[in-house]
Amino acid sequence: MASMSGAPGAVLDPAHAGRWRATWAQVMAGFVPGLSTLEETMCRAAEAAGSPPGKVLDLGGGPGVLAERMARRWPAAEVSVMDIDPVLLALARSAPSDAAVRTIEADLSSSAWVGRAGADFDVIVTVMTLHYLHAAQVQALYADIRRALTPGGLLIVADLMPDDGIASLMAALDPAEGAAAADLAWAQWWSDVADIAEIAPLVAERAAVFGQRPPAEFTAPVSWHAAALGAAGFERVGLVWRCGRHAALAALV
Ligand SMILES: C[S@@+](CC[C@H](N)C(=O)[O-])C[C@H]1O[C@@H](n2cnc3c(N)ncnc32)[C@H](O)[C@@H]1O
Repeated sequence: MASMSGAPGAVLDPAHAGRWRATWAQVMAGFVPGLSTLEETMCRAAEAAGSPPGKVLDLGGGPGVLAERMARRWPAAEVSVMDIDPVLLALARSAPSDAAVRTIEADLSSSAWVGRAGADFDVIVTVMTLHYLHAAQVQALYADIRRALTPGGLLIVADLMPDDGIASLMAALDPAEGAAAADLAWAQWWSDVADIAEIAPLVAERAAVFGQRPPAEFTAPVSWHAAALGAAGFERVGLVWRCGRHAALAALV
């Protein structure tokens, strides 16, 4: 990936980066059942909103796997990935790919990220990141995202959104054993990367980052997110994807 880094940062051996990004994608697929269908739905929604998007941002995009896929799908687009994790940002920056993705280091729990990212985005996506934040931070983030989007722009937000009314059906579709296996795979992935000499210092930096802001493990039903998006000024909000406890909402400015 020919990275245009928003801030200087570590660059890794591309062969290592390619390997760890590939296994990261497998770990995330364990967390999000039907992840490939989610990504296809997101891309189609983005194209339906104004095909093809010119400026795209993935918030909490980790090592930039989805960002790279979007850059390949929309070669003329300017695609950026934002995250706070030094390990994942280094992997995004060092990806062995010719797809141009800009990496931006920022903290989504503060509005300062908007200044770093810029504005006039046609599409902003965020996948499995909101649950790191507290409810009030998610509400504030929705208002920040709205400011960063161009008129007519689209937000797609995907995360755990368990709806009480159909809890038993969702449990059947997305059994807890799957979540436990995904947790184990996540822990193993982080243990494995910590053994790589050039990544180990970044793992220590990461521990300091998340030591100050442990994941909030915030989850709320679709109705909460729809109301929060409405309160943030989004005009049209709708459910575009669901698989088990996971869901994605699209919101238009
Ligand atoms: C479960 S991972 C999902 C990553 C990516 N969206 C994916 O699907 O592969 C959650 C991501 O949110 C990022 N994140 C958590 N809290 C954050 C914050 N306060 N600011 C920016 N990124 C954050 C993490 O570093 C991580 O990359």
